[in-house]
Amino acid sequence: MPVTRVGAALEWTDDSHLAVDGALVTGGLDRRALLVGAAGVVAAALAGCATPPTAGTDPSPRSAGMTTGPDPGSSSRPARVLLAFFSRAGESYHEGGRRNLAVGNTKVLAGMIADRVDCDVHEIVAADPYPEAYDPTVARNSAEQERDARPAIANPPPDVRGYDAVLIGSPVWNVRAPMIMSTFIESVDLAGTTILPFVTYAVSGMSGIDDDYRRALPGCDVRAGLAVRGETVRDAATDLEAWLAANRLGRAGRTDIA
Ligand SMILES: Cc1cc2nc3c(=O)[nH]c(=O)nc-3n(C[C@H](O)[C@H](O)[C@H](O)COP(=O)(O)O)c2cc1C
Repeated sequence: MPVTRVGAALEWTDDSHLAVDGALVTGGLDRRALLVGAAGVVAAALAGCATPPTAGTDPSPRSAGMTTGPDPGSSSRPARVLLAFFSRAGESYHEGGRRNLAVGNTKVLAGMIADRVDCDVHEIVAADPYPEAYDPTVARNSAEQERDARPAIANPPPDVRGYDAVLIGSPVWNVRAPMIMSTFIESVDLAGTTILPFVTYAVSGMSGIDDDYRRALPGCDVRAGLAVRGETVRDAATDLEAWLAANRLGRAGRTDIA
């Protein structure tokens, strides 16, 4: 487990450690506590899900793979679900060192979700791609957080009208969601939607990101998020399935979040 330096400004440093001035801490970190103190398989899975309509288009023909009719065993209709995520392949944090990822951890998790839930899938792509290299990505993210940036998205956001639930996934970047997630949630009208945040991380867990979405999206029902350690994402089926079950998300006939 990495050692982290603690001081006034909380920061994920170039050497892969969380830094807030001062003391040394080890193990899982809670951002709020700290702040108070100072390809193939996945591609196949994602390919199995439909691409949602883009903004301005009619969202009504939902998807192949989406539950389109009412569950015969249920009085309420099945939920319409969108899975939107951002992930970065390339040089990544791994067990205190670095590893090159062909597919980002969050994308792996998104693929596992898409295997288990009838949903439309939208991958959020940065117009100015993040570097392959790790340290420059850390530096760019810090700069973007500092100026409260809204990095542009390359692909048009989906039209979210008509979705009952939106799963929103990203890595944890400097104990927050990457700023491009703010770009995303501000570019779509999620009012009235159930939001299910999920993240992958190295040490800091959910990092209060579900609370951030709660603050940013007061018109939404933001559920407790799912946080999965990046290095163990492929072993996360049990936790993932429990989270999906708790939120009544599943395959055709079972998805019924309403
Ligand atoms: C710019 C940057 C900042 C990061 N900050 C944190 C952090 O604050 N806490 C943490 O636990 N992991 C942090 N990480 C590690 C990632 O959250 C983790 O490796 C994640 O699984 C990457 O997901 P991805 O492969 O989908 O991009 C950071 C990684 C990067 C590149």
